[in-house]
Amino acid sequence: MSGHLPVQSPAVFSNRRAALADALGDRPAVIFGGGERSRNYPANVYPYRGDSHFLYLVGAPMPDAVLVVDGGRSELFVVPPDADDALWHGASASLSTVRTATGVDAVRPLSELSEVAERLEDAGTLPSADPLTRAKQCALLGRTWDPTRAPTVADLDEDDLAVADAMIGLRLSHDEAALEMIRGAVAATTAAHRAGMEITRPGLLEHDVRAAMERELLARGCEPAYGSIVTVHGEVLHNNVYQHRLGPSDLLLADLGGEHHGWASDVTRTWPVAGRYSATQRALYDIVLQAEKEACAMVKPGVRYRDVHLHASVVLARGLVDEGILRGDPEGLVERGAHALLFPHGVGHLLGLDVHDMEDLGDRAGYAQGRTRSAQFGLGYLRLDRDLEPGMVVTIEPGIYIVPAILENERIAGPFLADGTLNKEALARFADVRGIRIEDDVLCTDGEPEVLTAAIPKEAADVEAAVGAAS
Ligand code: GLY
Ligand code: MN
Repeated sequence: MSGHLPVQSPAVFSNRRAALADALGDRPAVIFGGGERSRNYPANVYPYRGDSHFLYLVGAPMPDAVLVVDGGRSELFVVPPDADDALWHGASASLSTVRTATGVDAVRPLSELSEVAERLEDAGTLPSADPLTRAKQCALLGRTWDPTRAPTVADLDEDDLAVADAMIGLRLSHDEAALEMIRGAVAATTAAHRAGMEITRPGLLEHDVRAAMERELLARGCEPAYGSIVTVHGEVLHNNVYQHRLGPSDLLLADLGGEHHGWASDVTRTWPVAGRYSATQRALYDIVLQAEKEACAMVKPGVRYRDVHLHASVVLARGLVDEGILRGDPEGLVERGAHALLFPHGVGHLLGLDVHDMEDLGDRAGYAQGRTRSAQFGLGYLRLDRDLEPGMVVTIEPGIYIVPAILENERIAGPFLADGTLNKEALARFADVRGIRIEDDVLCTDGEPEVLTAAIPKEAADVEAAVGAAS
């Protein structure tokens, strides 16, 4: 078997598997490691990334491996190295080395998985995002998932749901080992944002800044945790285009986080290309910053995350009223969803092994039982509506965006234009803004929240001092 071994103690993973087994009682769980996907010929593969549930329980990516947790016993079925592997990929770890490093009871060749198939009749599994792996899950466990689309929670049977709920229970609040990894991702991300600010000056391309930022991730053994967003068009929320030239009056929005042994960080900063915010940019930047800081301060046990979102929305609405962009009282504006004209997304999400952690399980992870998404524009994009608990890591990421697709949309903006709630003339003064987002990763503790990403400049003056420092 080629691939990686866990970098943390096997006890970390044994304890997590024991907790899963406890939650499941007699029911076995079968967790697939995910597979490699080929490009133009079988051995030329896209970068492989292990399935997050597998990483949580085993500690390292292992293509096509299968973990079976059955009561107190864990067995790992792996693809043995073939004859050429040592030549092309280097020496493989022996099965006994894998066993010691992962703490499982046995490591066996994948071909032996069929020998335990009978025991797996009542096993639960979680659908892989990878269609080839899903086909193997269907074959082994008798699932009938539609091969043409990714299964949703609605496609899971009772056994699968039991595993899903057990994994959610484990992964919502992070153990110390997980937090150590997230802190590693945060350290690399901090270096990346500082480097991005330092290299920025008019005339560069977005690509140049992205490269300087991702370099810091790679130099620390990390990868980007998601498609980096580094753009002067921050109003395009998930902009993955990097060819614009940075103009002297532009803001650059960088939403970029590192992945450290599978664990993610997710940070956004928005800085002025020439090192000074204009008066209009600064006015809206300070509103977003105020909302962000107040929302971060709310990350405490028992607080409903939707209330964090709504509070941030009220702070934004108040600022927009002060600037003459919205008219009305801030609470009333948020109730009617008027703030979403300029802040259309949710204030954040769970963070862990994935940037939007456990969204492979849809809202079953992000929404507490009995809570469902709002139908209102804006609030409907909120990804998390749970009461916060110690050990949870969430992002806090309010923003203000001037999005033509929203402001020119009759259904969304029409009513607010007709009754004078939105003052487009006042908004026109802020044409040099486009998009501002400020995002931190925040750990909920027993006491005060810990802003894990606090070392990345955020106050306007600190950001201005950091921009262009390399030239
Ligand atoms: N970092 C991208 C997002 O949170 O959607
Ligand atoms: Mn985010």
